[in-house]
Amino acid sequence: MIGETIQSIMNEQIKNELESYYIYLSMASYFHSENLDGMAHWMRIQAHEEMTHAMKFFDHIIDRGGTATLLDLKQLKTSWSSPLEAWKDACDHEKFITGKIHGILNRVRAENDYTAEPLLAWFVNEQIEEEANTEKILRQMERIGDSREGLFMLDRELGTRIFPPGSPLDPAAYNAAT
Ligand code: FEO
Repeated sequence: MIGETIQSIMNEQIKNELESYYIYLSMASYFHSENLDGMAHWMRIQAHEEMTHAMKFFDHIIDRGGTATLLDLKQLKTSWSSPLEAWKDACDHEKFITGKIHGILNRVRAENDYTAEPLLAWFVNEQIEEEANTEKILRQMERIGDSREGLFMLDRELGTRIFPPGSPLDPAAYNAAT
């Protein structure tokens, strides 16, 4: 049975991951409005990943006999002044999430909750990749500067990211299923 303290901080993290989902879906919408469909595609896949992150905590709580409680999401940013600003925000957001994951791991250790440690170890590793991905794209954006050609080349490259099979955020999979 999961303890009250760990259940409560995991419920908080479900909210953080769902807010990540919202943020990246908002960024997808913003990139579509800028005709940067490759970046929008990349963000749709990122949003999909965030939903799976939320579900990992959700299922962990349920599997241990607890109650997953869906807390209120705050109103999040929905527009950006430039693609560069959006990528900066994505990068900062991943660092914020890494801090949250490390904080949960500290609490899990303080509570001697050995059952939760493997889940947190997975997230610690995942955050290395999450930070590296957004950091790399941000660096590319900074190098591109005002070059429209560079921006569209990067957009095309980001459009090649592969959706996990059956993702509801993949328009092709969605249209095939309905
Ligand atoms: Fe779920 Fe991008 O961290």
